[in-house]
Amino acid sequence: DDYQAEGYGHFMRKEIHDQPTAVERTLRGRLDDRFGTAHLGGLNLTPRESREFKRVKILGCGSAHYAGQIGAQLIEELARVPADSEPASEFRYRNPLIDPDTLYVAVSQSGETYDTLATVQEIQRKGGRVLGVVNAVGSSIARQCDGGIYLHAGPEISVTSTKAFTVTTVDFALLALHLARVRDLSPADGQRLVRGLRALPAQIGEILKLEDQIAGLAREYGTCPNVMFIGRVRGWPVAREGALKLKEVSYVHAEAYPASELKHGPLALISPETPTVAIVPDDELYDKNLTTLGEIKARGGRILALAHRELPTALADHTIVVPRAEPELDPILLGIPLQMLAYHAAVLLGHDVDHPRNLAKSVTVE
Ligand code: AGP
Repeated sequence: DDYQAEGYGHFMRKEIHDQPTAVERTLRGRLDDRFGTAHLGGLNLTPRESREFKRVKILGCGSAHYAGQIGAQLIEELARVPADSEPASEFRYRNPLIDPDTLYVAVSQSGETYDTLATVQEIQRKGGRVLGVVNAVGSSIARQCDGGIYLHAGPEISVTSTKAFTVTTVDFALLALHLARVRDLSPADGQRLVRGLRALPAQIGEILKLEDQIAGLAREYGTCPNVMFIGRVRGWPVAREGALKLKEVSYVHAEAYPASELKHGPLALISPETPTVAIVPDDELYDKNLTTLGEIKARGGRILALAHRELPTALADHTIVVPRAEPELDPILLGIPLQMLAYHAAVLLGHDVDHPRNLAKSVTVE
């Protein structure tokens, strides 16, 4: 009860600003600098079990699903085991094959989302093993799972998830690192990632200082009738989450697309009236992304880029320059400016930011 929005005006804004502390809390006691790995006491997996499963399937709803998509990419990239994320709400309705060699992971901030809980029970009924990545200690999903990782993000009051999303992606990085170091990752790469994880809270602090710049961009990119969000590979779940944030609190129609798919259809939507928010990390797909930006500019589209360096104005009308993490960890940071963009757009539009229409904090019914 002593949890207040304090001087922040809204819980959403307070929770955005809580993120350096929340990330620090989730990392506490879990990083091993010497061996370049992460210790996760609640997993209930022996090193042998961690080495032997053949796939990872991540399940959650909404933002939890998108955080899971970042998690799947981290696990596949670092631990070299095929991994993917699917909405739990879909999975439970399609009579999925439950495979004893798959590690299932259920993701939930509240631990009470019914679709996710029912999914866990269905997997277990068919002999599968499920880990939970959950914030609420002692919640239904946390109790139902066979082991897991608590987020320790602290309470999240705003209906729109911000810090729980970010902390979930950090915990997937820990899980990926842990699995990778018993499977196929060198100690040096492990140590590099531990250093990268330790740097995150201060880097998030740097991003929060961009709030004035982002608030200034919110009218142009967050209050028009349609906004396109694009990203490739690591940037793609970031774009999806960014679009969901904007939809939830500003009621603006935001469409998220993989940048690679734009020319296969949605490019037809681009015009001077429909701006694009593009996730453009300085990674191996940088040049590909610049080509896509050129295609948008050629159709008169305005572009706001999230990048690690200022882009030429011929390719992006505005750039938000985000600090670089280790490349695998970049998605953790790239999502944060989009939370602030959605927040400030909703404030400009005069919406009830913490209680968006039609939504509940956790969907505990069918
Ligand atoms: C996020 O902003 C949403 N309000 C929503 O998508 C949420 O992430 C989803 O309902 C899952 O909730 P959970 O993490 O509590 O299970």
